[in-house]
Amino acid sequence: MTDQGIWHEAAALGALNEGEPHGIEIAGHHIALYRVGNEYYATSNICTHAEALLSDGMLEGCEIECPLHMGRFDIRTGETLSSPVEIDIQTYPVRVAGDRLEVCLPA
Ligand code: FES
Repeated sequence: MTDQGIWHEAAALGALNEGEPHGIEIAGHHIALYRVGNEYYATSNICTHAEALLSDGMLEGCEIECPLHMGRFDIRTGETLSSPVEIDIQTYPVRVAGDRLEVCLPA
């Protein structure tokens, strides 16, 4: 546990492929995991515009494109990058622990 939340095991590093968002559910949170080179990121998996899963979208560099209406977010900051999305997406801290990726979620 940290000031920010609780660390959870999220995925084996081997399951996270470059350019392929990975959707998981942990403790009721829908999370999308991303690998960009040797860096890993986690965001909410639910688009802030409607109910689409970002893990079904296209990842280009550090930008995820929603599969439903093509809104784009920066997975590093959660910032919206294009319409129709207007609300930033939640991001979560991640860390590598051995051969696993962990994500810190609100307590
Ligand atoms: S549901 Fe994601 S852009 Fe509309």
